[in-house]
Amino acid sequence: MASPAPAGAASAAASPSPPVQLPSPFAELVKGPSGLEKIVLRGARNCCAEIYLYGGQVTSWKNDNGEELLFLSSKAIFKPPKAIRGGIPVCFPQFGTHGNLEQHGFARNRFWTIDNNPPPLPVSPAIKAFVDLILKPSEEDLKIWPHSFEFRLRVALGPSGDLSLTSRIRNTNTDGRPFSYTFAYHTYFSVSDISEVRVEGLETMDYLDNLKAKERFTEQGDAIVFESEVDKVYLAAPSKIAIIDHEKKRTFVVTKEGLPDAVVWNPWDKKAKAMQDFGDAEYKSMLCVEPAAVERPITLKPGEEWKGRLVLSAVPSSYCSGQLDPLKVLQG
Ligand code: BG6
Repeated sequence: MASPAPAGAASAAASPSPPVQLPSPFAELVKGPSGLEKIVLRGARNCCAEIYLYGGQVTSWKNDNGEELLFLSSKAIFKPPKAIRGGIPVCFPQFGTHGNLEQHGFARNRFWTIDNNPPPLPVSPAIKAFVDLILKPSEEDLKIWPHSFEFRLRVALGPSGDLSLTSRIRNTNTDGRPFSYTFAYHTYFSVSDISEVRVEGLETMDYLDNLKAKERFTEQGDAIVFESEVDKVYLAAPSKIAIIDHEKKRTFVVTKEGLPDAVVWNPWDKKAKAMQDFGDAEYKSMLCVEPAAVERPITLKPGEEWKGRLVLSAVPSSYCSGQLDPLKVLQG
């Protein structure tokens, strides 16, 4: 199946291509750096989100006050085949380096297309701003991962500014073969200062430590705080995780469905310096908490579909009262 043409590729053609239809009047297609096309979703007040067709990647999510909630590196490279550093890269069909593919798979550096006719997905009538994208493998992709699939991604902005990403992956192999994959929503949160941040919901969980040859440990302590490089895969993590930013008095609530694990990553100073597309001090203002399916790959038979969902909300922290009640944060 042919890969979709790079965004903007048709602009040199003699006759202009017909305008791309977006299903929602609250969505607009505009050009970003290097001419890469992105969809801007506009919600109530100043809430908005941006999604690049390159990678099917959310790069911006703003609240009522127009404040950015996701981290996007000032050194991010908007040029294929480099994946964009920040926002929410989608890791598929492989998370990490355990398989034969490039790190984190290829979905994050392929051109997705707008899907104007997706199979029905129940959606709250209150959700007005959304877009449906689709990725299918190209001939080249089939050489490195010999499976036919349809990956549908809906990105939606809820009435209270929540951002949701729903992935539906279908095995469309015609030779009867199942396939297996690992997956992550590699979410980069913007934080005021990493040393003022704590994560709740993962305490007492078992994790694989990527910095210690994936050895298995059990998390100790009341909450997770950050003083050095962290690269852990928490196993069978709860469906809600809170990221509490004391300085900003803001809590991100991460809700995940269909994704048992959660990766927590901060490169800290040395690794930050080693990354070409990441500022030396930017590790202080970001944290990745990534709903994922890593430990046990997902297997689909032909015709089967898997769904994995991420909902992000940003709420004022109960820290203001001087009393942090994790139960309040994690309820609901
Ligand atoms: C994290 C991994 O999810 O992504 C880390 O756990 C990795 O091991 C990081 O370094 C960044 O990966 P990449 O490929 O985007 O540089």
